[in-house]
Amino acid sequence: MMNAKIDLLTPIQMGAFTLPNRMVMAPMTRLRAVGSIPTPLMADYYAQRASAGLVITECTMISSLSNGYVNCPGIYSPEQVTAWQQVTDAVHREGGKIFLQLWHSGRVSHPSLLNGKLPIAPSAIAAIGTLHGPTGKVTLDKPRALETDEIPQIIEQFRQGAKNAMQAGFDGVELHGAFGYLIDQFLQDGSNQRTDQYGGSIQNRARFLLEIVEAVCQVWGNDRVGIKLSPSNTFYGIHDSNPLTTFSYAIEQLNQFKLAYVHLMEPSEDDLKTRDVINPVISTFRPLYSGLIITNGGYDKSKGNRMLETGKADLVSFGKLFIANPDLPERFTLNSPLNDLNFATIYSKSDQNLEQGYTDYPFLKLQGN
Ligand SMILES: Cc1cc2nc3c(=O)[nH]c(=O)nc-3n(C[C@H](O)[C@H](O)[C@H](O)COP(=O)(O)O)c2cc1C
Repeated sequence: MMNAKIDLLTPIQMGAFTLPNRMVMAPMTRLRAVGSIPTPLMADYYAQRASAGLVITECTMISSLSNGYVNCPGIYSPEQVTAWQQVTDAVHREGGKIFLQLWHSGRVSHPSLLNGKLPIAPSAIAAIGTLHGPTGKVTLDKPRALETDEIPQIIEQFRQGAKNAMQAGFDGVELHGAFGYLIDQFLQDGSNQRTDQYGGSIQNRARFLLEIVEAVCQVWGNDRVGIKLSPSNTFYGIHDSNPLTTFSYAIEQLNQFKLAYVHLMEPSEDDLKTRDVINPVISTFRPLYSGLIITNGGYDKSKGNRMLETGKADLVSFGKLFIANPDLPERFTLNSPLNDLNFATIYSKSDQNLEQGYTDYPFLKLQGN
């Protein structure tokens, strides 16, 4: 008997959930959480996109020291937890499922974002690049290396963030292990030159990630936890002397947890220009992981369907297409034209006109298509 053809619109059992389609809204920072507190406008934005099989929120700070951007939301204060509730309620009212992305920026930060404190990192090695701080552009400086006895506190902050996400009504959490932020900084030897049990061998460098996965799974149950990794990302100068060995080990270790999913990012055009990176990521690591994989990076409908048909991935996440097309699954179903992305309004530049380029992208129905 022939198996029915699987495509982006085929339902799937993902961990604890039956999702109506395999289209995931990728986590995307939009810098509209004024004062780091989610707003009613954010509830509208996420609810508009609730027809995605799964919505993953923008990266969200687990502590006041985990901040990399102005107007990025947090999940560490009671006020933030209450404010996120309006987002989860709005998405659930529309029948959607939403995971919170738990995040620590580590060395990708600046004292101007941290009440004058130095950013923390596995080692005192500066990230490469600049950030937009509260008073303008700043160059990333040397962070402070964490003492060994401080590391359990950071793991506890991830655990508390996971608990807070549960209180706020999320359906699960995704750990941000990608893009050169704190978990990635521990994993890769270009940013981790520690000599304690969290540095040196790959087993030691992956310890931080695996201890956080374990802590968060204790809160949520493994089938409501995912993790995003980007083995070929070059953001902020993140690098490893042997990414194939490093990421193979980390991904193989994740098998034991039977997570909801592992979310793997392909290199971007910029990554491919920066250095020789693993490409494609999915073909390299799919054989090592036995659970569900979400593939991400530069997909459209036909490319996404091809990945599912060939069984290389189980779900596909879309970033920029979901910014511009709140009803992306319907557009794919009807083969309708897509809205163009307005790059100028991706991030908010002030606390004014936050809805522009955020909640004002038209739905098919309103366009009369
Ligand atoms: C505006 C913007 C903000 C993003 N913020 C995050 C984020 O907070 N967390 C994260 O893991 N990835 C973030 N990403 C990366 C996306 O999740 C995704 O990996 C990337 O856009 C590639 O997918 P695409 O080609 O479908 O857009 C962001 C991307 C964009 C465009």
